[in-house]
Amino acid sequence: MRISAGTVLAGMLAVSNGLDILISNDDGFGTANIRELYKAMKAFGHNVYIVASVVNQSGKGGTVEYTKEKNLTGDSEFGIVKAGAPSIGPDPADSHIWYFNGTPSACVQVALDYVLPRYTNLTTFDLVLSGPNYGLNLGPFLYTLAGTLGATYTAVERGIPAIGISGAYGVQTPYFWVNETTAAGLKDPATIMAQLSANLAQQLITNVAKAGGGRLLPLGYGINVNIPLITSFKSDNCTDPPFIQSRLTGGAVVDLALFNETTGLFSYEDDINPGVNQCIHGDCSLPGETDILKRDCQSAVSVFTVDYDAPIGGVCSSGPDVRSLLFPLVQYANSSTLVGGLNVTTPANVTTVATPTLTPSPVTGSDAGKVLPSLAGLVGAICVEDYPPDSGVEYTNGSEEDRESDSDSTAETFQGAVESQEAANLMTLRVLESDLKRESCSGRVDMGV
Ligand SMILES: *[C@@H]1O[C@H](CO)[C@@H](O)[C@H](O)[C@H]1NC(C)=O
Ligand SMILES: *[C@@H]1O[C@H](CO)[C@@H](O)[C@H](O)[C@H]1NC(C)=O
Ligand SMILES: *[C@@H]1O[C@H](CO)[C@@H](O)[C@H](O)[C@H]1NC(C)=O
Ligand SMILES: *[C@@H]1O[C@H](CO)[C@@H](O)[C@H](O)[C@H]1NC(C)=O
Ligand SMILES: *[C@@H]1O[C@H](CO)[C@@H](O)[C@H](O)[C@H]1NC(C)=O
Ligand SMILES: *[C@@H]1O[C@H](CO)[C@@H](O)[C@H](O)[C@H]1NC(C)=O
Ligand SMILES: *[C@@H]1O[C@H](CO)[C@@H](O)[C@H](O)[C@H]1NC(C)=O
Ligand SMILES: *[C@@H]1O[C@H](CO)[C@@H](O)[C@H](O)[C@H]1NC(C)=O
Ligand SMILES: *[C@@H]1O[C@H](CO)[C@@H](O)[C@H](O)[C@H]1NC(C)=O
Ligand SMILES: *[C@@H]1O[C@H](CO)[C@@H](O)[C@H](O)[C@H]1NC(C)=O
Repeated sequence: MRISAGTVLAGMLAVSNGLDILISNDDGFGTANIRELYKAMKAFGHNVYIVASVVNQSGKGGTVEYTKEKNLTGDSEFGIVKAGAPSIGPDPADSHIWYFNGTPSACVQVALDYVLPRYTNLTTFDLVLSGPNYGLNLGPFLYTLAGTLGATYTAVERGIPAIGISGAYGVQTPYFWVNETTAAGLKDPATIMAQLSANLAQQLITNVAKAGGGRLLPLGYGINVNIPLITSFKSDNCTDPPFIQSRLTGGAVVDLALFNETTGLFSYEDDINPGVNQCIHGDCSLPGETDILKRDCQSAVSVFTVDYDAPIGGVCSSGPDVRSLLFPLVQYANSSTLVGGLNVTTPANVTTVATPTLTPSPVTGSDAGKVLPSLAGLVGAICVEDYPPDSGVEYTNGSEEDRESDSDSTAETFQGAVESQEAANLMTLRVLESDLKRESCSGRVDMGV
């Protein structure tokens, strides 16, 4: 159940801090990382389920693939479930842990539409956690490529707050190999990453509860977390990284196709390209998550939204009017007459094809006059409006239904959540002064983590 001020005050229901939480990943339901996170979230008193792929499904992004086989044609990872078993089922040892033979995104859907209605008493999950992944997922590029993030944004798109978590430690091990203590006398990296992840989720849960309850994140919002290499197998060099507020863009790497003349094959080469690193939405003063992970021992926490639309008008009125570049062929829905897309006037000869530049390129033809003035906004693309300090923050203390139907006020509740310094002190997380800065032109959520 959700924590809500109304519930507590009414005293009609048993007071419970436990939320209903789904965990998935792309490494499979039997890996150490996901099972350690399951344990850590249960230790916080939550009602936790795992629904995850039966085998490794790395690199699938948001692809949805359901198996076409009723039964497994091979053993699950680590031999936990044998070939011939149904393609979906519970772990032999725990009825809250489910495997499915499908991609991470498919697993989240199966969790919501099959496991939840048939095998739980729940109506939905309050939060979806994905990971911790074996290997980092840094930058918008990985946002579309990684199964960890595919599961995350699938949940967000289904209206459920979600956090994707990835760690630099990359060796997938089974859950029954988690070492109580390592050779260095420390906790297993899987245990440490799970505790870090659980602490972050619990910080969010605590802050929202203190702000009056409701959704953990506004509709359409998710969080991407990356944890540096936890060195506890060898030393305590990096076993307690601080969480740093970051953004997806900034230092992010995309791939180049490198052709090998000898083999006739391609391989990847890294490219830090401005295309993937353009700051358009949110707080451009934040460091890129990729750059954070280059530091000594720090975790990056980026807030994202599933709204890929370019900023134009609205609060961010300084956004460029890119849509006018599509006039007159592309019309507004409220135009009195809509002209068919095949009915184009003879195109003018265009002598220059625009290359990536922020200055207007020459456009010839009869429509040039309509297009050029609107391009002036391209240079001032970054949104700079701030909320005035301590104003515009409204708490909604109504029922759950009220909150869920009002994502705007939910967002503002979040703005208020960071004021809860007490909540922050509960956890061993380090709060940076700059985290409390209010900058929400395009809806940044300040979590205070
Ligand atoms: C999981 O799949 C990815 C992508 O195919 C691969 O790089 C990785 O080695 C696999 N891991 C295991 C343990 O099989
Ligand atoms: C799947 O396995 C069950 C037993 O677990 C068996 O009865 C059934 O025939 C199998 N179905 C297929 C299509 O292999
Ligand atoms: C659902 O709730 C009933 C009644 O509280 C309980 O007996 C049952 O075990 C619950 N089922 C699950 C799957 O949690
Ligand atoms: C962890 O323990 C397992 C046995 O439970 C062992 O096989 C493995 O080598 C250990 N790993 C390390 C890094 O010590
Ligand atoms: C609503 O909740 C906030 C945070 O808990 C509190 O500061 C505020 O006084 C409450 N407002 C009302 C009207 O109850
Ligand atoms: C720990 O960090 C120090 C300083 O960065 C480095 O010199 C040392 O080699 C590291 N030790 C291990 C075991 O990684
Ligand atoms: C091309 O592939 C061959 C064979 O694997 C390898 O020896 C060579 O180093 C590669 N060349 C480059 C430029 O990577
Ligand atoms: C027509 O639609 C556009 C885009 O939605 C809007 O900006 C404009 O104000 C509308 N015009 C009228 C007359 O409603
Ligand atoms: C094409 O559009 C023009 C107005 O831009 C209109 O006068 C003409 O009737 C249209 N032709 C067709 C075939 O729709
Ligand atoms: C476009 O340019 C070509 C070559 O410069 C010319 O032959 C043609 O007439 C031009 N077309 C129009 C519509 O101006």
